[in-house]
Amino acid sequence: MATSVTTQLTSMLAAALLVAAVACQKQADSPTPAATLATSTLAALPLEVPAPADNSTSSAKVDLGRALFWDPVLSGGRDVSCATCHHPATGYADGLDLDIGENGQGLGAARHFRSPNTIPFGQRNSQTVLNTAFNGLTTNAALDPAAAPMFWDSRANSLEAQSLLPLAKLEEMRGYQYAERVAPDSVVARLRRIPAYEALFKTAFTETAPLTATNIGKALACFERTLVATDSPFDQYMRGTTSALTSQQVQGLQAFVQCGCAKCHSGPMLSDYQLHVMGVADNSKNTTPDTGANGTYAFRTPSLRNVALTAPYMSSGTLPNLQAVLDFYDPGRGGARSTNPHVATNQLDPLFPTRVTNKQAIIAFLNSLTAATYDHTVPATVPSGLPVGGTIN
Ligand code: HEC
Ligand code: HEC
Repeated sequence: MATSVTTQLTSMLAAALLVAAVACQKQADSPTPAATLATSTLAALPLEVPAPADNSTSSAKVDLGRALFWDPVLSGGRDVSCATCHHPATGYADGLDLDIGENGQGLGAARHFRSPNTIPFGQRNSQTVLNTAFNGLTTNAALDPAAAPMFWDSRANSLEAQSLLPLAKLEEMRGYQYAERVAPDSVVARLRRIPAYEALFKTAFTETAPLTATNIGKALACFERTLVATDSPFDQYMRGTTSALTSQQVQGLQAFVQCGCAKCHSGPMLSDYQLHVMGVADNSKNTTPDTGANGTYAFRTPSLRNVALTAPYMSSGTLPNLQAVLDFYDPGRGGARSTNPHVATNQLDPLFPTRVTNKQAIIAFLNSLTAATYDHTVPATVPSGLPVGGTIN
């Protein structure tokens, strides 16, 4: 209904202010507003991608970063690349509940361990790399890319720092080939034996001996800053094209705010980047419980950007689709309850929704957060000559 929502754009970009009429939902199907509530909680993404002062973007760094991202020479067994778990075909995530790195074979849901195998599953669901260039961005403050929160428990800051950590993780890219503490140096030594990498680093960086672990991190981060998708129907709507959303999606947007989802999933990334205890069930493949940030069972609010592309959901990957996520938030028993035996219901975040209405409309709204126009490029070759992306075929 045309009068149910008024959008008011205070600027074309970051400060998009949604003045949403919030339906009272006494009758689930009637979007007629009982009250009009101005919210500044959601926003379009900016069109400019911020970069830290000490790692400005250049096309040479992006080219190098793309080669590194796809090259399995960065992994102990020369079989896993970043793209193995962050592939454009699966929204730059992997489509699995828990990730399979070293000694795996195949892509997406078909990926499995080769036999024999002694490598465990990664403990968590793979996050997407799309739009991580905006991690930390809120509506009311400028983004500091050097402090950008990374991982489900925010244990790393910045794309530069994050990108060296998978190299050292046994289950992801290290395997048993070398010890954790020498992992980045071992990768550097390998790359120095490949003349094409020596040349790419010399073109991308000014130092006399530029092939270093720090510069691997910088080049990967520069490439990741090109993996953005900023033109979803939701973004178009927030920038003023009200016809970009269907009326069901507008209803879903209203219900999303009204049900309290936007108390945590706020701002242009639909995340407050705070840690919350949600009592999500652990994955039974985990031999020890995933205790979250500092053993508190809290996890960072994930961005919902492109969420429709990255099932299954939650840190444990235990919810197969968005319907299951909505059912998780609305157990239909008159309020929140923990589904994790290590978390009592009274330990759940006080902002945990107590009642969820209009679930189908909310799902339609979540689908409007998909921007399919991101970079789908798969390089034809990588400098090591190894299979592009690792053992993914
Ligand atoms: C074996 C699968 C796997 C590989 C290989 C892998 N990742 Fe990831 N990635 C994950 C998982 C799982 C997470 C979440 C881990 C966590 O929270 O502890 C993640 C998280 C991330 C994040 C954080 C996203 C966010 O919003 O916080 C970034 C960025 C990222 N990976 C980039 C990379 C880069 C760059 C490489 C290659 C150097 C790489 N990944 C290799 C599985 C993988
Ligand atoms: C109290 C803060 C909070 C509120 C309120 C909240 N969420 Fe979440 N949301 C989170 C956190 C934290 C996670 C990750 C939990 C985990 O994996 O352990 C999450 C996960 C999700 C995911 C999975 C994303 C992914 O990539 O796996 C979706 C979808 C989602 N929430 C949608 C919603 C909807 C819809 C609502 C309203 C009905 C809502 N959330 C309310 C904090 C919140």
